[in-house]
Amino acid sequence: MEMIGLYPTWFEPGLGSGWIVGLIATIHVLFSHTSVGAAIFFAFLANYAHRHQRPDLLEFIRRYGLFLLVFSYVLGSITGPGIWYSTTVASPRGISALIHSFVWMWATEWVFFVIEVVGVYMLVYLANRLNARTHLKVSVIFGLASYTTMLVIVGILSFMMWPGQAGWYETGGVLNAFYGPNTFAQLGMRSAFMFTMTAVVGGIVAARFQDAAFKKDVARKLAWLGICSAVAGAAMFQWYLNTLPETAALVLANRLPAWFQPALLGILGATVAYFAMTLLQPRTLVAGGAAAMTLAVLVFGLWPEEVARESIRKPWVAGQYVYSNQVVGRDVPGMGVRSEIPTIEAHGFLKTMVFLPDHQRTITDSNRVEAGRVLALATCSNCHSLSATGMRPLRNYFSASNSTSEIADYLQAALSTGNTLYMPQIPFKDDEALALASFIATLNLPSAPAATQAKAQAATSTIKE
Ligand code: HEC
Repeated sequence: MEMIGLYPTWFEPGLGSGWIVGLIATIHVLFSHTSVGAAIFFAFLANYAHRHQRPDLLEFIRRYGLFLLVFSYVLGSITGPGIWYSTTVASPRGISALIHSFVWMWATEWVFFVIEVVGVYMLVYLANRLNARTHLKVSVIFGLASYTTMLVIVGILSFMMWPGQAGWYETGGVLNAFYGPNTFAQLGMRSAFMFTMTAVVGGIVAARFQDAAFKKDVARKLAWLGICSAVAGAAMFQWYLNTLPETAALVLANRLPAWFQPALLGILGATVAYFAMTLLQPRTLVAGGAAAMTLAVLVFGLWPEEVARESIRKPWVAGQYVYSNQVVGRDVPGMGVRSEIPTIEAHGFLKTMVFLPDHQRTITDSNRVEAGRVLALATCSNCHSLSATGMRPLRNYFSASNSTSEIADYLQAALSTGNTLYMPQIPFKDDEALALASFIATLNLPSAPAATQAKAQAATSTIKE
């Protein structure tokens, strides 16, 4: 029989594998965006310094560069491979899809990353030994190499939302996958906000300057950079929203946590206010304040943004053909990829999953709950935590008053048909649905669904139907 190549599931009970990836990735975004923005800013400052005979600005570049070596390059180089490790186990087929389209893009990115790392070392350790022209050249090469790494990664990230060109499904081809409206809008948005982060983090360095006049000068430059980039970023964000698939817009409108929009607006307003303050009163720029602001941007800006980008991609993880639960849900003739849904519909999951002990392939009275757990791990746990904490706990959507057969009916009605916008089509055989329902019933279900009212009602009303 034809099998489907699902890998064993990485199950993380506390948070859910998706949130582990999200945490590592969000921290990485802070480091990587700060350093790319700083690289471009350094090129600008170096140019300015040489034109206006301002060697003191070169000292700022050196110190900020040194700070970045630890802050961005060490921690960024830990979280970067961290993303590879965590996504490879959390979403092996999602990563595989990306590698199949973009392996040379990534190779390109690594080349430029090496240039970038050499560049930052040169800027810091050769700062006082290079002549002015060479120093300027190094900073321009550093800036361009950094930005190229961002350019390449953004194309890959936007492919995760959807391929650049709709024709890609038929034709394949890396450029069709890479370039699309979403790529450019996302590049614009990230390019703007990376300068905001550069300005926020730069405050930690600038605050330590003793010379009041110099500190004031740098503080004002950072403040203007921060204000302009935050405002530009907000505009780019609107553009970005307009380049999303229709389903994403619906999820955005209906399914994001209530705190999402206020958090983003709040942090944007707070950032602009903060920079207005340091612009008018450079004295108020202190290292602790700048560090707190950096943390706030991470928690209230980047985390919601990354969570949202991940949510609105649902039910897909990559290219709108690999579902978040790793099943290939669509034909892609251009890549020689076939949907696995027909195979699963014909034979069920338990018969077609490769990594499964034989005694779990057939459901009996004695292994029903165990088989249900296998199904929950393979088909739900990528998006729903199976414990009480973490990402969208599965138990929150059901109540103790639901009978096993009611739960099974819901699973068949909503999931086997692919009736929801944000969940994959998950075609269960009748006995599989019952097994999964039996497992769900063991999750110590709350007496009333704990998910927010509207969602809970949606769940129970579907169950009751
Ligand atoms: C691609 C990710 C994904 C997968 C896989 C997934 N879900 Fe969901 N599920 C969601 C999202 C997103 C929501 C909406 C949650 C919200 O708004 O709180 C949801 C909501 C639900 C709800 C609430 C009712 C509803 O229709 O909105 C139930 C019940 C549910 N999921 C059960 C399951 C079960 C059982 C599985 C595995 C067989 C599963 N889900 C697999 C993403 C997923």
